[in-house]
Amino acid sequence: MKYEQQKQVGNTPFVPLRGFQQTGAAEVWGKCEYLNPTGTPKDRLYTYIIEKLEESGQIQPGMTLVDASTGNGGGALARAANLKGYKSVIIMPEGMTQERKNVIKSWHGQIIESPAEEFLLGAERVALGFVEENPEARYLNQAGTQMNWQSMRSIGREVVEEFKKSGIKPQAFVCSIGTGGTYTGVATELENAFPGLLKIGIEVDKSAPLFSKRNARPFEHRHHNLMGLGPGKIGGNLNENMVDEVVTVSGDEAWQMMKKLVKKGYQTGPTSGANVLVALKYARRFGASGKIATVLFDASWKYISIWDGRYQHYQDASLPSEPPTAKVIV
Ligand SMILES: Cc1ncc(COP(=O)(O)O)c(C=O)c1O
Repeated sequence: MKYEQQKQVGNTPFVPLRGFQQTGAAEVWGKCEYLNPTGTPKDRLYTYIIEKLEESGQIQPGMTLVDASTGNGGGALARAANLKGYKSVIIMPEGMTQERKNVIKSWHGQIIESPAEEFLLGAERVALGFVEENPEARYLNQAGTQMNWQSMRSIGREVVEEFKKSGIKPQAFVCSIGTGGTYTGVATELENAFPGLLKIGIEVDKSAPLFSKRNARPFEHRHHNLMGLGPGKIGGNLNENMVDEVVTVSGDEAWQMMKKLVKKGYQTGPTSGANVLVALKYARRFGASGKIATVLFDASWKYISIWDGRYQHYQDASLPSEPPTAKVIV
């Protein structure tokens, strides 16, 4: 039974987005990762990490698995750990949505909250402290382990397979960046299959380390409302060579696009809104026969309790946004 449930990870639909086609512009296809068992591609990541660490004898059932997360990775870890006979401890910055916490709790994960001011870097600090004090616990470190992007190659392989089945050669891949695992895993597979395809990374405007680096600007992390992006540093899983262009979006624009996606039947979250916003902008560059791939990250039901997009602990996010860099007319 437990094994049966794990088989549901991956093989998500990859579809042209109905209701978003712009005249004379490329078609945007979305990989529906929000349909994974806990509503995130992180289900792939923790299933993969646990399998790999077991294969190499580094962990055994009964141990405690620990990671820092804004909650998507946490829910996925709690599930994968529970199904494989491990305990899980998730370190989350305080103020994440109740829905994310509920997923973790429903899979018997323990939650420890870290200070909001330090956001994810604080959660990583607390996670390191936890494993130091609890030698039987293992820190999985999604932000740093290269198993993260390796696990996400499976998304890319599925995308390539679907495109090839339909005889499509895509022009571009658009995806937002947190740890960089999803971006790098998918971009790597797409680049192998369709060399020269344009690869566009997205950061949230209030915490955009790669954008700052490329534009020779000082990097500053500010509170934002696109949880999963903008951790406060360039993700340890980001292969910067795979990023041809990097753009920023404001949280509010992304939330607005997410609501349009939900109205059209895609029950996905705000970082998917960011992806589609930017993909639609690039679609105009390629003309009607073009195709662009993107990822629909997590599920909209994780945000019902804060549908206005205002996180109580991250109120800077409600300050006026910087001028939008990705204006899209749909
Ligand atoms: C909702 C959401 N979108 C995007 C991302 C970014 O994914 P990655 O960490 O693979 O870069 C995350 C990561 O946690 C996320 O939770």
